[in-house]
Amino acid sequence: MSYTYSDYQESADYLRGVLGGFSPEVLLILGSGLGFLGETVEDPVFVDYGAIPHFKPSTAPDHKGRFVFGRLCGKRVAVMQGRMHCYEGYSMEDAAYGVRVLRLLGADKLVVTNAAGAVNTDFSAGDLMLITDHVKLFDFGPLRGENLPEFGVRFPDVSTLYTPRLQQVARETAQSLGLTLREGVYMYFPGPQFETPAEVRAARILGADAVGMSTVPEAIVAGHCGYEILGVTLCANMAAGVLPRPLSGEEVNEMAAASAPHFSALILGCLEAM
Ligand code: HPA
Repeated sequence: MSYTYSDYQESADYLRGVLGGFSPEVLLILGSGLGFLGETVEDPVFVDYGAIPHFKPSTAPDHKGRFVFGRLCGKRVAVMQGRMHCYEGYSMEDAAYGVRVLRLLGADKLVVTNAAGAVNTDFSAGDLMLITDHVKLFDFGPLRGENLPEFGVRFPDVSTLYTPRLQQVARETAQSLGLTLREGVYMYFPGPQFETPAEVRAARILGADAVGMSTVPEAIVAGHCGYEILGVTLCANMAAGVLPRPLSGEEVNEMAAASAPHFSALILGCLEAM
């Protein structure tokens, strides 16, 4: 199903009614392990996705499925605690729906995080990676269908989708915190099965440093409607076939939990500096 501009407006109008005069400047879409940052928002207003017209609920385990609006590190934020993934049965347009709604509310910076598998064999499980670019070869994109010119042009340039200014903010923040920050290309796979070892080898040949099942729909839609974007990946595991053992969702969740202190420090530091 395609959304119309008035669908997005109706969602934004509902949120304006709940939020009064509060206008978020930064949208944070937090993947596995970082959802708890939503609990640290000052003067929080919680809004379940299910309460918002046209919004789809998130079904992923450990994803709360709500917005938290308030202040974090001196910024007016909207935190999505739980995102929609295409492997849940959503379209890419569904997965990125909130990005456009928040743009209508005034947000113009997106911080997006995820867990992924490291393809680059110089990386280790637990490494943080600044996303400098992505590869998406699968599925139709989120901008398929009639263009909504209120949001952006039919053929958007994506050559600096992950905003160079915010990449620099992340590098400087990592350095000041004494954190190692890898950099690289995130390659999108639709999941929910992990990749095969042959897919991981192919991804490496195509220039990928990490493989994952999220982020790209939101980033494409955010770039189209004029957000600055910062993307950071937690390399929760070495991608399939790099090590001689099977992958599991539990392994990903354990690494996400173990990395939460330094991952959240980096994200909060970036938020303050951006
Ligand atoms: N592949 C895809 N998505 C992931 C992975 C992976 O290895 N680890 C965490 N999310």
